[in-house]
Amino acid sequence: MGLLFSRTKSLNQLLNEASESEKGLKRTLSATNLIALGIGAIIGAGLFSLTGLAAANNSGPAVTISFLIGAIGCAFAGLCYAEFASMIPIAGSAYTYSYATMGEFMAWIIGWDLVLEYALGAATVAISWSQYLVKFLHHFNIHLPAQLTASPFETITMMDGTTVHGWLNLPAIFIVICLSMLLIRGTKESAFTNALLVALKVAVVLVFIAVGWSHINPANYDPYIPANEGFGHFGISGVLRGAAVVFFAFIGFDAVSTAAQEAKKPQKDMPIGILGSLAICTILYVLFSHVMTGLANYKEFKDSAAPVAIAIAKTPYGWLQQAIILAIIAGYTSVILVMLMGQSRVFYSMSQDGLLPKTFSQVHPKYRTPYKSNLLFMVFVSLFSAFVPVHVVGEMVSIGTLFAFVLVCIGIIIMRKKQPDAVRPFKTPLVPFVPIMGIIICVIMMGALPWDTWLRLAIWMGLGFIIYFTYSKKNSKIGQRGE
Ligand code: ALA
Repeated sequence: MGLLFSRTKSLNQLLNEASESEKGLKRTLSATNLIALGIGAIIGAGLFSLTGLAAANNSGPAVTISFLIGAIGCAFAGLCYAEFASMIPIAGSAYTYSYATMGEFMAWIIGWDLVLEYALGAATVAISWSQYLVKFLHHFNIHLPAQLTASPFETITMMDGTTVHGWLNLPAIFIVICLSMLLIRGTKESAFTNALLVALKVAVVLVFIAVGWSHINPANYDPYIPANEGFGHFGISGVLRGAAVVFFAFIGFDAVSTAAQEAKKPQKDMPIGILGSLAICTILYVLFSHVMTGLANYKEFKDSAAPVAIAIAKTPYGWLQQAIILAIIAGYTSVILVMLMGQSRVFYSMSQDGLLPKTFSQVHPKYRTPYKSNLLFMVFVSLFSAFVPVHVVGEMVSIGTLFAFVLVCIGIIIMRKKQPDAVRPFKTPLVPFVPIMGIIICVIMMGALPWDTWLRLAIWMGLGFIIYFTYSKKNSKIGQRGE
């Protein structure tokens, strides 16, 4: 156990650091801002692209049940995040919680792993953003050269049936650069922009539900769970596999916890932000997928990256198409924004602890944002979104996030044992049942991912170990104090 559990930060130490760093990040976010931040990160490519694929390949109209199962898994983890975020309201999220419970080495593992969730999450959605932008511009007769809108590992079929290879995804780089600049400018400005984007995307989701409801064809719900066609394809196992697919749609509620140090009243508002955004999105997802599979038969969504367009075409409101595509672009923009913000806050915390070079926690003299961290990830995320295919980054995001959820659930159990009397403004109910269920469900979903994704996770972690043992362990502030 030498390495594990050594160099653990005490709760008091963490809270002192939080008050010291009042000089650093500004406390500007209210409960409403935090819920908007959550919804900003949550509703995106998962809802607007994956719902149709999960219905067509795995769940049929019962994709609504897949969403509910995914939500239950996330709720278990969300309850654990809420306890930690109210107890340790410091930037850094799961990384910081692990430092307090499982020691520096595990904290490093989780911090390094979170890069997969946030930085690659931003890259995945930037790639989908680019696809929708191309679609939107087509409508106005603006055609970007196809080679400049896809990675070199992808081929694009042109109108005349010929295919071309991608070179790089230029629109994806463009959006990552714009949003990184906005983040450097300030958290409050970013929160304001995020709130506008969230309002737009939630409005479109509501319009879709309201407009579509009266055009539902009940025959499309028969059968609700199509007969099993092999493991993971319809039937009960299909609904479960569908849950692992749409899990991506929930990723992001935990990003709220990375902004704990910028919340005005973190103890009260963190649980509201995390659980509130998760609850609102779950209701919207179930209603949205119910309407979508009621408008068109689930089989019609096969191979479609834009299932919403297929569903809307079944109503007399075809003109809504462009408005919806625009709102989807706005929706994706806010996901990228919050993911990039979460990423820079995790590196900020790791750098403050000495595990990464000091430069990542340098705050801009005027804007008081961790601008060097923002710049580093601007480059890193741009490279991934420009050159790597979307399914590769997408699956790495899912595995990285699930791994982080598992560690947070384990952390709650350990913390309750180690510090039973610590002040917990929000307490996860039914411990250890809730964290254990969180662990089980997340591990099952990890098991549903392909082996090459596990291999990439192992390689990424291997790289992390090399950095930890060659740099971080020596430079750790706790280590240097001889603890
Ligand atoms: N939940 C986010 C999305 O669906 C990552 O785009």
